[in-house]
Amino acid sequence: VRIVVDGLSYPIVIGTEAQEETAALAGGACERAFVVSDRNVASRGELIARTLERNAIAVLGVECLDAGERNKRWKTVARLHDAFVAAGVDRASLIVAVGGGTLTDAAGFAAATYMRGVRWLPVATTVLAMVDAAIGGKTGVDLPQGKNLIGAIWQPLGVVGDLASLSTLSQREAKTGIAEVVKAAVIDDASLLTAVECHDPHSPLEEWAELISRAAAVKARIVAADPNERGKRTVLNLGHTVGHAIEHASKYRIAHGAAVALGLRAEGVIASGLTGWSRDDHQRVLAALRRFGHRLRLGRLSHNAIMSAMRWDKKRLGGALRFVLPIRLGEVAAGVEASEERVREALQVLARAPRRSTW
Ligand SMILES: NC(=O)c1ccc[n+]([C@@H]2O[C@H](COP(=O)([O-])OP(=O)(O)OC[C@H]3O[C@@H](n4cnc5c(N)ncnc54)[C@H](O)[C@@H]3O)[C@@H](O)[C@H]2O)c1
Ligand SMILES: [Zn+2]
Repeated sequence: VRIVVDGLSYPIVIGTEAQEETAALAGGACERAFVVSDRNVASRGELIARTLERNAIAVLGVECLDAGERNKRWKTVARLHDAFVAAGVDRASLIVAVGGGTLTDAAGFAAATYMRGVRWLPVATTVLAMVDAAIGGKTGVDLPQGKNLIGAIWQPLGVVGDLASLSTLSQREAKTGIAEVVKAAVIDDASLLTAVECHDPHSPLEEWAELISRAAAVKARIVAADPNERGKRTVLNLGHTVGHAIEHASKYRIAHGAAVALGLRAEGVIASGLTGWSRDDHQRVLAALRRFGHRLRLGRLSHNAIMSAMRWDKKRLGGALRFVLPIRLGEVAAGVEASEERVREALQVLARAPRRSTW
């Protein structure tokens, strides 16, 4: 599937021949490349490197890294910069980043900062990276104080979704990606939620191509309308204001997608009575997430820790707690203020498993 969006200067290609697509995109742009690959998809990285070579693109090096949020840190970027220098990466080279969202965020940021910016191409190997992280040019790493505190917007040459790589992805990881698919549906494509509801969670991951490409298209459209996040792009933070705070408060034991699923529930509760978000729509969202194995219960996480992570975010922006909140399926409102009390009440709701009669 090739997603071409008005205003987006690069293509998003999701398919089973990622190595060929990568070589085709790189071929028009450079003669040299450096491949950064998540250790868990090292064989995909190798295949891509060989395919680049076969297409007359010299591969200066292949660096395999441990991925995961714990490694989305400055030290990973520093290590990549060292490897780039040692391999002779220059401004005419292309960085190809093969992995999930943590790897593409870190390697993309290394590309954005090396020699004031060299071109890069993410090859996404998780559902989450295909539908979200690899699209839109946001790159960066975490600080101990918070997520994504260092970063740059650095648009890639293109985005490749490597469907074949999904054969090794665990159902658990695939499930975390569904949270971003559901998020996309709530923001801008109500019929995508129906597709999620009709999709068999246990079907082989290659059969997820439709969901993945439709969710990726939502992200691409929004990013194309506002590449530098001056306005509309903030709607992509649906589920993330609470989600990021949960992620941080759990010290990243709760994965990004799982935290976003909890955030979607919490922000739906916050929206009730504020935006006209209906319990029926809310229930559909929760049911869709639950089908894919999200339990949507907060567990023993301290509400104070979540609130202080959120306040810290708020200080960055100045002023009150503001959220992107759902209005109805396919429509959200950005910048809606909610009292701390309302947010705490939502966290209380999350202490219990969702039931039909409740939020
Ligand atoms: N830049 C953005 O706009 C943006 C948007 C959304 C999310 N993100 C970021 O994305 C990150 C989450 O990404 P993620 O969920 O892909 O996590 P991840 O990169 O940690 O990948 C999840 C796990 O799966 C492994 N893995 C990756 N591909 C695999 C495959 N094909 N087979 C087997 N194992 C595989 C990884 O090694 C890792 O252990 C977060 O840091 C989040 O902040 C960024
Ligand atoms: Zn996200």
